[in-house]
Amino acid sequence: MEDAGVDGRQTGVIADGETVVDPPRDFCERAVANDEGVYDAFESEGPAAWERAAALLDWETEYDQVLDDGDPPFYEWFTGGELNAAANCVDRHLEDRRNQLAIRWFGKRGERRSYTYLDLHREVNAFAAGLRDLGVEEDDVVTLYLPMIPELPIAMLACARIGAPHNVVFAGLSAEALATRIDAADSSYLITCDGYYRREDAFNQKSKADNARLRADADLDAAVVVDRLGDALAVSLGSDEHAYGDLVDAHDGETVEPVARDATDLLFVMYTSGTTGRPKGVEHATGGYLSHVAWTTRNVLDVRPDDTYWCAADIGWITGHSYGVYGPLALGTTTVLYEGSPDYPDRERVWDLIERNAVTVFYTSPTAIRSFMKWGAEYPDAHDLSSIRLLGTVGESITPKAWRWYREHVGGGEAPVVDTWWQTETGAIALATLPGITPMKPGKVGPSLPGIDARVVDEDGEPVDPGEPGYLTIDSPWPGMLRGLREGDERYRREYWIEGEDGWRYRTGDGAAVDEDGYVTILGRVDDVINVRARRFNTAELEAAIVDTDGVTEAAVVGDGDGRIVAYVTTRSDVDPDDRLRDAIADGLADSIGDVARPDRIVFTPDLPKTRSGKIMRRLLEDIARGEEFGDVSALRNPEVVGEIESAVREDA
Ligand code: WTA
Repeated sequence: MEDAGVDGRQTGVIADGETVVDPPRDFCERAVANDEGVYDAFESEGPAAWERAAALLDWETEYDQVLDDGDPPFYEWFTGGELNAAANCVDRHLEDRRNQLAIRWFGKRGERRSYTYLDLHREVNAFAAGLRDLGVEEDDVVTLYLPMIPELPIAMLACARIGAPHNVVFAGLSAEALATRIDAADSSYLITCDGYYRREDAFNQKSKADNARLRADADLDAAVVVDRLGDALAVSLGSDEHAYGDLVDAHDGETVEPVARDATDLLFVMYTSGTTGRPKGVEHATGGYLSHVAWTTRNVLDVRPDDTYWCAADIGWITGHSYGVYGPLALGTTTVLYEGSPDYPDRERVWDLIERNAVTVFYTSPTAIRSFMKWGAEYPDAHDLSSIRLLGTVGESITPKAWRWYREHVGGGEAPVVDTWWQTETGAIALATLPGITPMKPGKVGPSLPGIDARVVDEDGEPVDPGEPGYLTIDSPWPGMLRGLREGDERYRREYWIEGEDGWRYRTGDGAAVDEDGYVTILGRVDDVINVRARRFNTAELEAAIVDTDGVTEAAVVGDGDGRIVAYVTTRSDVDPDDRLRDAIADGLADSIGDVARPDRIVFTPDLPKTRSGKIMRRLLEDIARGEEFGDVSALRNPEVVGEIESAVREDA
């Protein structure tokens, strides 16, 4: 095949022995996207095809250009247009469905709260007025450090309403990580809470936030503290700290005119792991991002206003931003928000929530699906999950086995499963099947969505043959793309873009292969980023934290392909690699990054495998962690160490 372009239109050829699952007929009849012509339409119309996405939104001022590509790789979408994201997610639904549920929240203690669109409108306005009162102005970056409580999406929307970009930091990240992100984003306002429940215990989030304020270089102008725990945890507020409840009460009933933002204005910044040790601040523009997110929520996840939709991802990461908040609310649907972990108070929890809410569309990660499989089919099987009509997955590759289990036990054997590939930087789904049109191949992400020009290429940017490994690139701009990096244009260009003969191509950092039909298999990251627990970590960042531990000389961190972090560590010769050291390493990671970064396994080894130029062979360590065969190691400077590492891994297992 000459053109290994991933265009998704050739769905007729079926490779030998591969399962291809057609979209279920009943589903297709009702699906939002069920006209195959959409692929050709995007192909022939070029960027203008994305007007379909912009048309899903209300614009204050019509845009005059769909794509401004005059200064690549700095692309601008829907230039000249003005809109407000909060008005699109809240106000415009008041006419038709003011009393429909917008957010249905379930707390860890079995609490429940529901917000209709009218409730949401009232509280977003009150809080927006409160923020103004504290001095927040258009373009001021507001940092949000909150768990999965309704105040998080409300605060995001209140910021969007007044044109203040938000900078959400995952609540489980450490004080140090928060301080870095406050400084890097140049943020003067913080919204946090007293604490939250971790299993049975009340956990003090405020003290982490206080700690971050001490560490940050910048002085904040003000902070807002949500009372999540009531009497369970008394926190004292400083003179520049305000109780969320007081602010909202004081401004209850006020309305704040949504600020008309340029389509290219910043909606939010989100920090993510990059190829250097420091996180990158990915910037998303208002118009392109919201259009792409709304279009994919509708066409890929098939969400409509009458759905009860549940995206299980934490809002502290991009999936929660795009598909837990902005996508579903832009479409005026009901979105479920769950504070707890899937197995608390027991393993019935997720299935119970689906059953009691009659959830129709469920979106989660392969990591979660693997846990569900491990716990056993008896849990989902004991519940009526017949409301489900579509399942989605994101974050990592899903094995055909997990794909089938998910469809069988959660989707009643009927629901389409869409495997969606995208990134913090792409803003929204880029590769996936269209569930009412494109056949599914378990274990492979779909082809490119219409309008996305993904390819698998070699070092020179030439398309590789089907089945051959290569680099996944996107060869033309798309609306949800990052508008830039907080760290500046130069870093943005360097991190992501390659100038080829026929234009600029976006480097995803993923290795991939494409089949004859344009379906992509993701082979993992090609840079120093690992993907575990549906999250991205930079290996250098984790390793730096480990090497900071007293007695450690060197470290290499890999993912084991099963959602676990494995750290290979060498110690000083006078240090005993014992459990105390293990704990110290794990605590060090929790301190500098957060509990999410605690390694699942620490393997002490006398040395790390290195190339002759001194580069650690992470691939090899990954193969060992996965228990996989590995190739010739004679090119190593220290091949003898491989056997020792293997036996250390075995002993430790
Ligand atoms: C990986 C999450 C395989 C990939 C939305 C990507 C996937 C990184 C898939 C982005 C998938 C995401 N199959 N791998 N369906 N989806 N990835 O920025 O390596 O947290 O580059 O965004 O997750 O992670 P991020």
